[in-house]
Amino acid sequence: TRRVTVRDLAVAKERGEKWPMLTAYDAMTASVFDESGIPVLLVGDSMGNCHLGYETTVPVTLDEIAMLSAAVVRGTQRALVIGDLPFGSYQEGPVQALRSATRLVKEAGVGAVKLEGGERSLAQTELLVSAGIPVMSHLGLTPQSVNTMGYRVQGRGDEDAHRLLRDAKAAQDAGAFGVVLELVPEELAAEVTRSLHIPTIGIGAGAGCDAQVLVWTDMMGLTSGKVPRFVKQYAALRSVMGDAAKTFADEVRGGAFPAPEHAFH
Ligand code: KIV
Ligand code: NA
Repeated sequence: TRRVTVRDLAVAKERGEKWPMLTAYDAMTASVFDESGIPVLLVGDSMGNCHLGYETTVPVTLDEIAMLSAAVVRGTQRALVIGDLPFGSYQEGPVQALRSATRLVKEAGVGAVKLEGGERSLAQTELLVSAGIPVMSHLGLTPQSVNTMGYRVQGRGDEDAHRLLRDAKAAQDAGAFGVVLELVPEELAAEVTRSLHIPTIGIGAGAGCDAQVLVWTDMMGLTSGKVPRFVKQYAALRSVMGDAAKTFADEVRGGAFPAPEHAFH
């Protein structure tokens, strides 16, 4: 087996084949998705909210991304593993971005990195690509900018729509191999998808994108409380796991576990 490459994703766009992407933050979960045929896994800085107990993605460090990316790479054989560059690891400029991305490639073994921003991250994208590191761009709602943009649909209105199109073209021209579109109106995401030769990966961006990504804890129903409307829940892991934990607790307290077959003599 060989790993999926960014070249495979370019071919999929040429052929009009859609593909799925999920986040993963540990080796075991990643191995399940790899065995299930998910071709691309993102070690997203969404780990801040979903895995590490932070309120936002902003506090996530490069050390955390590197450690969990290494775990996801170890847990997989086939998937392209993308490491998210966290807030503060590339905003200083291209050299900082290259240093951070190089760590993820060398220490963790990721096949690509992702960063937020089109025009504002153009120099970073160009340097990484010229150094041989594939870059995925992330536009629309960019959670690392929550303190200035909040969490709302992006690209509404002509000016914002034009800016998104410009950013997407800038990312493509800088050499990005794909563009995540987060919380963007469906019509605009479809227009961006048509105007790029690289794939768009939508999250809350409708059916017109080339690929779809979801945060795994959201789509598996493990996240507590409300999840955004664009998330389809494919399982109810929180109640499955909660019920199992309660049954275990009851059986220990009541003496039903361990039974004779669980003991050694
Ligand atoms: O961190 C993340 O999970 C992401 C995806 C939502 C694209 O950036
Ligand atoms: Na992210």
